[in-house]
Amino acid sequence: MGGRVNSKLRFSTAGESVILRFPARTFEQSEDVETMYPIDLSGKRGVVFGVANEHSIAWPIASILHEAGARLAITYQNDRFRDRVARLTESMPGTLLLECDVSRDESIAAAFDEMARELGGLDFMVHSIAFANRDDLRGEFSKTSRDSFLLSLDISAYSLIPLVRHSADLMPNGGSIVAMTFQASERVFPGYNIMGTAKAALENEVRQLSQEYGGANVRVNAISAGPLETLASRGIHGFPDMRRIHAERAPLRRNITHHEVAKTALFLCSDLASGITGTVIPVDAGYHIMGI
Ligand SMILES: NC(=O)c1ccc[n+]([C@@H]2O[C@H](COP(=O)([O-])OP(=O)(O)OC[C@H]3O[C@@H](n4cnc5c(N)ncnc54)[C@H](O)[C@@H]3O)[C@@H](O)[C@H]2O)c1
Repeated sequence: MGGRVNSKLRFSTAGESVILRFPARTFEQSEDVETMYPIDLSGKRGVVFGVANEHSIAWPIASILHEAGARLAITYQNDRFRDRVARLTESMPGTLLLECDVSRDESIAAAFDEMARELGGLDFMVHSIAFANRDDLRGEFSKTSRDSFLLSLDISAYSLIPLVRHSADLMPNGGSIVAMTFQASERVFPGYNIMGTAKAALENEVRQLSQEYGGANVRVNAISAGPLETLASRGIHGFPDMRRIHAERAPLRRNITHHEVAKTALFLCSDLASGITGTVIPVDAGYHIMGI
């Protein structure tokens, strides 16, 4: 099984020449972290929200955007995460490290003020943030308390709205927003509970915001990732079963990798995706098409 790919494509997009080179590699290679994708984002500036550690989906996204030449701001939630995220970003010279707790408007405003001062503007923003109490990610959904509902919807869904609003203010020439979602927005994944409700809200926001900001050439999309082991997913009851069943039933018959999500984020942040907005792109080895 497997084959080799070795191709070189040149696209001329809106005022920009983009060369895509796909080095030779085998199809069955899944964690292709060595592969370079020379989509040229040099001169572009962006912010990535949601790096907690090296397992965070936001981390390979930030890495691939940095490798593509973009200057980045990376935010961390609070003091608890600062040292770890600072260590990770040591390998990214020129990266602006900022604290931002999205549950506080003043924290959001301060982070964007700093980005305006230090970066002068933005071309893309990645929202890779979610939170729910661990106890709410198991047991009966009907037992979800009002406080739990408000907390998880606030952090996981509402936060996209002010982050897009502030980002768009720094995008006079347009830009790209990428949010992270999961198929539990539409289907029932027992254990995912309130996060399913939050993802349904988030995806609806993606559509409404893309319509509102489309006139300013700000595109808003989401990636619906298959299950990946991270700090957040560790809290979901039955998560190992979710991964096992995905790998068994997905058309590609495997789980996806963090790097595959990052590649899609790179595409969405680049001019190659200039015609795509308001869309949820599944990066799930095809799992979403299956009936059983
Ligand atoms: N892991 C998966 O299987 C999976 C699948 C699909 C979608 N997602 C989504 O991907 C995104 C990233 O999650 P992850 O799996 O990488 O886990 P993660 O725990 O590494 O990332 C979640 C991030 O949210 C941040 N966060 C939580 N509360 C915050 C607050 N008040 N202010 C600022 N930041 C806050 C955390 O600090 C952390 O960086 C989430 O939206 C998640 O729902 C994950």
